[in-house]
Amino acid sequence: MTQLDLEDADFKARIPEYVQRVETCMDRALPAAEQAPCRLHEAMRYAALGGGKRMRPLLVYASGECLGVELQKLDVAAVALEFIHAFSLVHDDLPAMDNDDLRRGLPTVHRKFNEETTILAADALQPLAFEVIAASAALDDREARELVGLVTGACGSLGMTGGEAIDIASEGCDLSADELQEMHGLKTGALIRAAIMSPCSLAYEPGEQQREALDRFSRDIGLAFQIRDDLLDVHGQSEIIGKPAGSDQALDKATWPSLFGIDESIGRCNQLLDSAYAALDTFGGAADPLRMLAAMIVERIR
Ligand code: IPE
Ligand code: IPE
Ligand code: MG
Ligand code: MG
Ligand code: MG
Repeated sequence: MTQLDLEDADFKARIPEYVQRVETCMDRALPAAEQAPCRLHEAMRYAALGGGKRMRPLLVYASGECLGVELQKLDVAAVALEFIHAFSLVHDDLPAMDNDDLRRGLPTVHRKFNEETTILAADALQPLAFEVIAASAALDDREARELVGLVTGACGSLGMTGGEAIDIASEGCDLSADELQEMHGLKTGALIRAAIMSPCSLAYEPGEQQREALDRFSRDIGLAFQIRDDLLDVHGQSEIIGKPAGSDQALDKATWPSLFGIDESIGRCNQLLDSAYAALDTFGGAADPLRMLAAMIVERIR
């Protein structure tokens, strides 16, 4: 794995500010817990505001810094994608899906509330993402339309939802390497790609070369993100990862370590990181924030 000596450590120092920023925007966009139907709104807020690394918003801000996009425009993409991500986790944990009891170190939404309220809270988080885009005064019509297209594509049956469908159908099955890569690219890669590509819809005409570079970077890092997640399920501790370790094995999930073993999975993550760095060459130092997040994704312990 290439060692990076990043001159611009600034982004790392700005991470807490960016996290605070997106959480404040999410808080404002969510209905108040006191507003009827209160239980539904409480569950939505619990699902969306209860911790998390906020990696997709951070990727939006880092990619946006690289292209020089205004922060107010980036907020819209960051919030919309984090609401979609939150809804995807709520459904992912349900008894009919991965049947997990712990998320972000807390009881999953269906454990804290009930299943009915949980399904409805996810139902309502999804349109909230699009309401945020539609209601934004920071975007012009073209930007809003492009962002809606990007987010719907990443979330729908040819994106995250399709990947989740393949994941569920693949329990107990032997997938080929290509099939596994396809599944990871959809269930996790699609939203990560949308986060990294979203500033292209909000910047003043990025060049084709820049778009292609970010696209390549996003595909490498999206796959690495899920391989790392699969590894953490094997050797992470529940208290640190904030979700039940060993959940994949219990459900006989198709994962990178189950198909290739631990060492090869770690090796693949490192290869993907090198390839992701190489994709960013065209940006020079402007892409250091993205390089930093890529390294964090591959090295993370939660
Ligand atoms: C977990 O995503 C689900 C996957 C796509 C692997 P994250 O690891 O980003 O979860 P949070 O948002 O930080 O809790
Ligand atoms: C992807 O995979 C989750 C989503 C697309 C929502 P996992 O099922 O492995 O995610 P975790 O491990 O529960 O966070
Ligand atoms: Mg799952
Ligand atoms: Mg899961
Ligand atoms: Mg997992």
